[in-house]
Amino acid sequence: MRIYFDNAATTAIDPLVFEEMTKVMRDHYGNPSSIHAHGREVRTLIEKARKTVAHLLNVSPSEIFFTSGGTEADNMAIRMALESYSINHVISSPIEHHAVLHTLEELEKSKGLKYSLLQVDSKGNINLEQLEELLQNSPKTLVSLMHANNEIGTLLDIEQVSAICRKYDALFHCDTVQTMGHYRHDLGKLPVDFVTCAAHKLHGPKGVGFIYINHNIKIKPLLFGGAQERNMRGGTENVYGIVGLAKALELAYDEMEDHQNYIQNLKTYMIQQINEHVPDCTFNGEIVPEKSLYTVLNVCFPEMDMADMLLFNLDIAGISASGGSACSSGTNIGSHVLTAIGAHSERPSVRFSFSKYNTKEEVDIVVSKVKEIFLHEALR
Ligand SMILES: Cc1ncc(COP(=O)(O)O)c(C=O)c1O
Repeated sequence: MRIYFDNAATTAIDPLVFEEMTKVMRDHYGNPSSIHAHGREVRTLIEKARKTVAHLLNVSPSEIFFTSGGTEADNMAIRMALESYSINHVISSPIEHHAVLHTLEELEKSKGLKYSLLQVDSKGNINLEQLEELLQNSPKTLVSLMHANNEIGTLLDIEQVSAICRKYDALFHCDTVQTMGHYRHDLGKLPVDFVTCAAHKLHGPKGVGFIYINHNIKIKPLLFGGAQERNMRGGTENVYGIVGLAKALELAYDEMEDHQNYIQNLKTYMIQQINEHVPDCTFNGEIVPEKSLYTVLNVCFPEMDMADMLLFNLDIAGISASGGSACSSGTNIGSHVLTAIGAHSERPSVRFSFSKYNTKEEVDIVVSKVKEIFLHEALR
């Protein structure tokens, strides 16, 4: 039996989502843009999915646009905000996902965009005083900060950032790819301009996601083509993906508190077990529940020979996890997040990320395997 502790990379599809999607795949093949009955019936499925998503987030269906996933949604928010609002400055952080950072780098090269990356502390907390200082002197700004970091799990105080952005009239894009379906986002109450989602992070299908765009924001489309998504995204819709996304989000909201408690307990248990059985480990990022995404635990292991082999050895032992280490000086391979928080570059770090399908027994197996690897290492 293999153990899957890489749920921040992607999650297993929920059987109920799968069932819903296969029904659509089998029975509803019309093109939603067709005006005949086959098309209309599929259009209805898409609009029902949009209503479900909008209802769960407490927004209007007209504020939800389906995309191919988180990367497209992040690109759309940043690129189109800049183009539509003549934004000349973006404020972000060095620990954002590459969907944001590489987009900013590209826009700097191609369009001369100026962007500033806020300081982060050793646990991945963003310096919000610096955000406020920069905003005081920077009109027409887009702030792009993620809700939870996908590598270390540190959470952003999204309410505080939203209030700061409103105070200085800046647009706020929040990459919520790791938290959508994991926390209740009441966007009717939280002033934010864009949030993004990828269905595969919440037991939905890959290749589909959405962007929420606040109704006050009028941006141009990223993709041109047909009139789909109310002219905001050309291309025949990924119908079964969209239906699967809505079902996954619905299930996530139905079961949210139970899963939060269950998964947080697994994470707390793993922290205890690692502290007890593997000496000299530390944790990258925040680990206190109020400041840390409950699905992610990033462990910094003791220095070892052939640190690169740790993940490989776990894989051989039937454990799927991911990781990396901070870049050591002179190299640029490794994790930009761990580098930015100043994590040990000589010690291997592994991200274990959990879902509702994981168990305490699996945590025991993983910890005993890790213990064995380090005992073996000590005897070398
Ligand atoms: C925080 C964050 N943003 C964006 C993305 C991109 O999502 P996708 O790969 O579905 O396009 C990911 C995926 O890992 C992510 O973790």
